[in-house]
Amino acid sequence: MRVLGIESSCDDTAAAVYDSSSGLLSNVVSSQVPVHSLYGGVVPELASREHIRSVVPIIERALAEAGSGRKDIDGVAVTAGPGLIGSLLVGLCFAKSLAYSWGKPLYGADHLEAHIFSIFLETEVEFPFLALLVSGGHTSLFRVSGWEEVSFLGGTLDDAAGEAFDKAAKLLGLGYPGGAAIDRIAQEGDPGRFAFPRAWLAPGSADFSFSGLKTSLRVFLSTPEGKERRVEDIAASFQEAVVDVLVGKTLQAAKREGVPRVVLAGGVSANTRLRRRAGEDGSREGIAVYLPSRSLCTDNAAMVALLGERRLSAGRASGPELNAYAASRFSR
Ligand code: KG4
Ligand code: ZN
Repeated sequence: MRVLGIESSCDDTAAAVYDSSSGLLSNVVSSQVPVHSLYGGVVPELASREHIRSVVPIIERALAEAGSGRKDIDGVAVTAGPGLIGSLLVGLCFAKSLAYSWGKPLYGADHLEAHIFSIFLETEVEFPFLALLVSGGHTSLFRVSGWEEVSFLGGTLDDAAGEAFDKAAKLLGLGYPGGAAIDRIAQEGDPGRFAFPRAWLAPGSADFSFSGLKTSLRVFLSTPEGKERRVEDIAASFQEAVVDVLVGKTLQAAKREGVPRVVLAGGVSANTRLRRRAGEDGSREGIAVYLPSRSLCTDNAAMVALLGERRLSAGRASGPELNAYAASRFSR
């Protein structure tokens, strides 16, 4: 089965083609960074308008790169949620019309599930595993026991990890989007130079909290010491506080659940320090850590096409009532 995947949940318009036997045939992402960087963050209305402009050329490119036309495509998968509702609706309405006019089945993918299974584009992972999804909107831990069995173990009580990185970068004057900028500059800094707080929460809790850390950085930057210090050291110390909690809590949860495999997913899992620490700490604890390639960590449609291929193959097509949703469907 060959599936066209479409993703427009936030500020990237993406399309990809995945084939059951040949794997990923194309993966095209159009970034809107230049549009939003002027404002220091994603402006939802502008994002929707950019999606309208890009959706057709991006899909045409993905089909052309995959050497595929209407007759080669067996199904269409599209991100239905969660995300920015205006952005989601552009991709969803287009996908629905395309599937209807081509007479192909449609699958409405959950963006979080698509991230969680993105590792399967490169590696087969044995079930069950724990998935840490760290992105601009989510910091969540899941137990994944099969393609249809994803259960939520915990999530952030306030800011997501990516949001914490982006807000810290703004405070440090590193521009937008901030995660990759902190990652880069922190490589020149000392992660042990400043002791920012780590919110471990109650023992055994799989929840996260990053708002206190962000406040602590803001307060520190207003002190004479904070004003004088090297931004590289501050970025590295801030990043270390985030990474300590992400890695520590994930490995604790894996041990509690008796699951010796962990998968990382989402934009923040592109972070160099997080990738290194997860691998090192995991091997010390006897837990295998799986990391998607960096380009598959951030938003893409390859993961949507793959999830669509699995679900459509299992006979789980969506009906014409499929609609977009803004909030996560996962809760305890
Ligand atoms: O998964 P994603 O592309 O979109 C969402 O679904 O949110 O994640 C975007 C987030 C942003 O907050 C961005 O700053 C962060 O991922 N990010 C990073 C890195 N690359 C992207 N955070 C830390 N280090 C990175 N290298
Ligand atoms: Zn995402």
